[in-house]
Amino acid sequence: MVMYAAQILKKLTPEDFRILIAIERGMSTYSYVPLNLIVKISGLSFDDAALHLSKTHSLKLILRRIGPYTGYRLNYNGYDVLALNVLSKRKSVEAIGGIIAQGKESDVYEALAPGGVRIIAKFFRLGRTSFKQVRRTRFFIGLRRHTSWLYKSRLAALNEFKALEILYKHGFFTPKPIDSNRHVVIMSYINGVPLYTVDELENPAEVFKSVINNLRLALSIGLVHGDLSEYNIMLTPEQLTYIIDWVQWVDVNHPSAHNLLKRDIKNITQYFARKYGLRSDVGKIYDELRGVMKR
Ligand SMILES: Nc1ncnc2c1ncn2[C@@H]1O[C@H](COP(=O)(O)OP(=O)(O)OP(=O)(O)O)[C@@H](O)[C@H]1O
Ligand SMILES: [Mg+2]
Repeated sequence: MVMYAAQILKKLTPEDFRILIAIERGMSTYSYVPLNLIVKISGLSFDDAALHLSKTHSLKLILRRIGPYTGYRLNYNGYDVLALNVLSKRKSVEAIGGIIAQGKESDVYEALAPGGVRIIAKFFRLGRTSFKQVRRTRFFIGLRRHTSWLYKSRLAALNEFKALEILYKHGFFTPKPIDSNRHVVIMSYINGVPLYTVDELENPAEVFKSVINNLRLALSIGLVHGDLSEYNIMLTPEQLTYIIDWVQWVDVNHPSAHNLLKRDIKNITQYFARKYGLRSDVGKIYDELRGVMKR
């Protein structure tokens, strides 16, 4: 999907981008942006607008609805194109490589920055699951819902990027935030594997300790992860742990912070108990970490 957007990028003219951006703007108010509004926002003549709408539509970057009025909206291809265009102009991304992971709510790609530096591009895809459900049940949900999925993906990216910025500034073991645009976060590549894929650890107690130390540091910086598990911990060959996937973080003063912290500790403690027979006292760890959290 992203590969497609990356290839299409080269085929697009400034007028095509004016159309896509006009639709994006219009989508703050409309689920399907009326043709005449697109013409107006784009500043193109009616004929030119129609031409570039037809081109971007046949390239599958936008959806068209012919009903009481003819309207258009961006799909994730179109949104990808807009984000990649900005990220490549800023020289944050030079090429998109293979997909590493496809989650419920994101696609994670390997990518290259200029100079051949290996990086990660995370594309948020909120609403994808429910969209499938919608198709399955053939239930036609309110069009406005769709508008908000792109917007929600953008908020998710913004949220994760913000967390990475705060954490990285304080020397936390997390990917380095490189850039972000729309629903995409560009970050450094962590040379490691997700903890859940590791079959054996030489020293599980040390790795567990390193995760708890990371948690403590995050709390002292003011963040609770909120979705901690063996899936969101990367282990490097040097046995260092990096915590990734900061979409759901909350500030330590957030009303849910304590509950989320407790859950984070529980998840990771249970994992080490189950897999490595490592017993630790959740309550004790929570009490100790809670102290760091008080501000
Ligand atoms: N900076 C990174 N360096 C190396 N690999 C990464 C990096 N970020 C993510 N990955 C890989 O991609 C996978 C998924 O990443 P992440 O946990 O951030 O998203 P996700 O779980 O798919 O998100 P969601 O559950 O919201 O759909 C990780 O398990 C890891 O293998
Ligand atoms: Mg994850």
